[in-house]
Amino acid sequence: MNDTFLKACRGEEVPYTPIWIMRQAGRYLPEYRAVRGKSDFLKMCKTPELAAEVTLQPIDILNVDAAILFCDILIPCEAMGQGLEFHEGKGPLLGPPIRDKATVDKLSVPDPEDKMGFVMDAIRLLRKELDGRVPLIGFAGAPLTTATYMIEGGTSKNFLNTKMMIYENPDLYKTFMDKVTATTTEYLKAQVSAGAQAVQIFDTWGGIFSPGDFRDYALVYVKRIIKDLKDWMTSENIEQVPVIYFVGETAGLLEEIKTSGADVYGVDWRINLDDAINRIGDGAIVQGNLDPLSMFLPQEKIEERVKDVLNRASSAKGHIFNLGHGVVPQTPRENVVALVEMVHRLSKK
Ligand code: CP3
Repeated sequence: MNDTFLKACRGEEVPYTPIWIMRQAGRYLPEYRAVRGKSDFLKMCKTPELAAEVTLQPIDILNVDAAILFCDILIPCEAMGQGLEFHEGKGPLLGPPIRDKATVDKLSVPDPEDKMGFVMDAIRLLRKELDGRVPLIGFAGAPLTTATYMIEGGTSKNFLNTKMMIYENPDLYKTFMDKVTATTTEYLKAQVSAGAQAVQIFDTWGGIFSPGDFRDYALVYVKRIIKDLKDWMTSENIEQVPVIYFVGETAGLLEEIKTSGADVYGVDWRINLDDAINRIGDGAIVQGNLDPLSMFLPQEKIEERVKDVLNRASSAKGHIFNLGHGVVPQTPRENVVALVEMVHRLSKK
């Protein structure tokens, strides 16, 4: 089994730097578009055979060192009782938006196997199909990131409604976030029970806050999830799976992020990786952090940037190569294939 990724997450010696790519199963792959052409996005998430098929595509095509389950961070919103739709070119639409006590009270904390069993079925199927080739990463949105979609009703520019709830009705925000947090914790436990070998918590929108507000309105809930998950793995005698915490706009928030209790910190590209490692401090294990748009450069320029990231990572206790955010749909497929080859070749010990 290729366990380079899991070893790097634990800070153990590795023969080369492992790599996987956020959104590696996606529209930049013609193979993905072929499957997607025949069914809508949510149907793919909810059909374990289809989810498994597109999860495996980047393993075969790119030779990455980990698989990430094909699904979406917004699936639990629907399981909590909110409507969820994806429209071509518009992104997700959730309704009704969660903005008052009545809409918060209607939300439930679902039993994950009961309401999202298709996710755990996809994980169980994937573990069989992967048969030890590479580890499988499960994931969830961080409560703040998930909550912004639920409150705004979709993607947002300035997150006005989210901040208004926090400012005008902090108790309601807390009640709502307690439900989102409990849902996320149970969902991640179910993924680990089903066979996820690492989990990543996506906090794409953490950077909408000042560091103080990030700590009070986002990080507290992430800390609770990570602690509950780790205590549960200990009490169930489950081997600890690494927890990766990715925050967008990482640079302003690192001093807060490093108190989260995560094993690995995902770093975006707006900060030099050696800076991030120094600020996290001794024993830093990091994931990142090439600008996703670098993938549009000629390959020799991409290679220079890969070398730079690898050099900057040399002081880390562990490094998993990744982009600083998801690969964008227009990315040339051959450059992504080349990226994986470069990372493996240039980092070889
Ligand atoms: O990384 C992977 O390959 C695993 C699958 C995955 C998807 N979304 C598939 C997807 C993961 C881990 C996500 C996470 C996700 N989803 C995040 C956090 C990470 C990030 O990118 O910031 C967020 C904020 C979402 C919410 C979401 N899902 C949005 C805003 C959109 C629409 C924008 C877009 O890219 O079209 C999605 C749709 C989505 N999720 C697609 C995929 C492959 C595109 C759907 C399609 O095929 O039309």
